[in-house]
Amino acid sequence: SQPELILAFESSCDETSVAVIKNGDTILSNIIATQINSHKRFGGVVPEVASRHHVEQITEVIDLAMKEAKVTYDDLDAVAVTYGPGLIGSLLIGVTAAKTVAFAHNLPLLPINHIAGHIYAAQLVKPLVYPLLALVVSGGHTELVYMQAAGDFKIIGDTRDDAAGEAYDKIGRVLGINYPAGKEVDRLAHLGQDTFNFPRAMDDSEDLDFSFSGLKSAFINTVHHADQIHETLSREDLATSFQAAVVDVLTHKTLRALHDHPVSQLVVAGGVAANQGLKERLTKELANTDIDLIVPPLRLCGDNAAMIGAAAHVALAKKQFGSLDLSADPGLDF
Ligand code: KG4
Ligand code: ZN
Repeated sequence: SQPELILAFESSCDETSVAVIKNGDTILSNIIATQINSHKRFGGVVPEVASRHHVEQITEVIDLAMKEAKVTYDDLDAVAVTYGPGLIGSLLIGVTAAKTVAFAHNLPLLPINHIAGHIYAAQLVKPLVYPLLALVVSGGHTELVYMQAAGDFKIIGDTRDDAAGEAYDKIGRVLGINYPAGKEVDRLAHLGQDTFNFPRAMDDSEDLDFSFSGLKSAFINTVHHADQIHETLSREDLATSFQAAVVDVLTHKTLRALHDHPVSQLVVAGGVAANQGLKERLTKELANTDIDLIVPPLRLCGDNAAMIGAAAHVALAKKQFGSLDLSADPGLDF
């Protein structure tokens, strides 16, 4: 039989991405045009700048994705698009482009949740087995998601304040590291010692929620205090101590969730899933268990359209179609 081909769009933040996915698990193309250089000097993503870049890049990114996949519009079965959560102006560009292609080529439209996409990036690595647990850690989210079955998402833990990636970007700024700082802080963290003993917030609370603002404040206060007394602290030790606190909390809550909700797979998803310290720690903790740890390769951890195409395979099977008056939903929940 014919393979199922989905053209997927992702534009929720600062990456313009279009992919062609075969049968929900095979990437035929995954073009990612990043805008990081335009946002760096502002220390974060500027929404107006982001949507303008999406407009400028989307047509070319679609062409590249179709060309690389060696498919024509006639070969496609559906068009999928991230419609939330994210920046409204950014989301709208992808939604408008996807609706245009769907209308022009008479294809069904599949509206996809960005977080579901991050989780389904794991399906591009290996078949998912339910129930499963996902630790979603990105610039905007820190959540534990329990999935009883395909397409069934239940948030069992959430952040009370900052997201893990957001904390990395904020403390990175204090260390003089450009946005997004996660990767460089992770590198420094492998070179120092955990000498500062930063707070592990909510670590012993019974629930599965996270909080990173106390850690961020402790970090900033430590650096400012040292500045005032003209003392220079080791950037490596600061990074190591920060990462140790983040990884401790993420690991403890995840292990608690696994204890309460037995599963055979743990999926780590989102930009912070690229963190080497987190991956090393979870690998170690799960070594003597039957739980299979799935951390997608770097390119599939950050925002990309391939993960949206993978999630869309499930949406297509469930016939979760959107109409052509679909709009963006910046605060979309599961
Ligand atoms: O999923 P993503 O690409 O965008 C959102 O949906 O938020 O995540 C981006 C976030 C940024 O905060 C970035 O600093 C963080 O992921 N990040 C990392 C690493 N690589 C990217 N954080 C920690 N360690 C890393 N290696
Ligand atoms: Zn994301």
